[in-house]
Amino acid sequence: MLFVRKNIMAFTGLFLCIFLVVHLGGNLILLLPSETAHGLYNSYSAKLGGNIFIRVVSIFLYLSILLHTVYAALITSKNNKSKGKKYLVNHTIESSSWTSQNMGLLGFSILIFILIHLSNFWWRVKLGYGEIVPLDSNGLKDVYLITTELFKNPYYVFIYVIFIIPLSMHIKHGFSSAFKTLGLYNLNYIRKVSIIGNMFSIIILIGFSVIPVAVYLRGL
Ligand code: HEM
Repeated sequence: MLFVRKNIMAFTGLFLCIFLVVHLGGNLILLLPSETAHGLYNSYSAKLGGNIFIRVVSIFLYLSILLHTVYAALITSKNNKSKGKKYLVNHTIESSSWTSQNMGLLGFSILIFILIHLSNFWWRVKLGYGEIVPLDSNGLKDVYLITTELFKNPYYVFIYVIFIIPLSMHIKHGFSSAFKTLGLYNLNYIRKVSIIGNMFSIIILIGFSVIPVAVYLRGL
């Protein structure tokens, strides 16, 4: 059972990494000059919402977040129960790093962030709850406007920057860990995958924190 759970965690985790790459790519539009970014960001958002393939992928995305969270909670509680039973504790150097010991805590912070984030955008844009999203001059939902409005508030800029730190740490350990769970045993490849994971976690950290700060500074 633990084997199946860990494999599901690995698959969903890697899928969420792919989502982050695409999501970061789309959000980097916000760094372009506002005249270009405004229309481009809104049509990007409209294309995502209108495409049937993307809708199916979105359902897989929500399922992945759910499964990854549920199995993480189960595995973390099982690990906590076995703490103290010394013979069950893994004493390898890698598993003693703070990050690897606290993946559950880091994951929980990410979950809090996702809930705040979805209530900021997804709830309004996709589900149509809360304040109505205004339309731009092309009749598209003005997601650019609500995003740039949000980042005029330094409190939200702070939240977005701070919460990217646990996300980046979680990826740093989780990326190579997922490959190991899925059967990567060759030490040479594991080292390479770890380097890719480290680079990826830094790109996520810098990319997602630069966006709110840059949008805030431009709005001053
Ligand atoms: C600069 C930071 C970010 C900005 C500006 C941003 C912006 C947005 C916007 C505008 C949407 C709604 C898109 C739409 O429906 O058209 C959205 C959806 C979403 N975002 Fe973000 N995002 C950021 C960072 C993140 C991060 C770090 C995560 C993950 C930890 C994340 C996870 C999601 C998810 C899961 C959705 C729902 C996607 C869907 O329904 O298909 N976002 N984001």
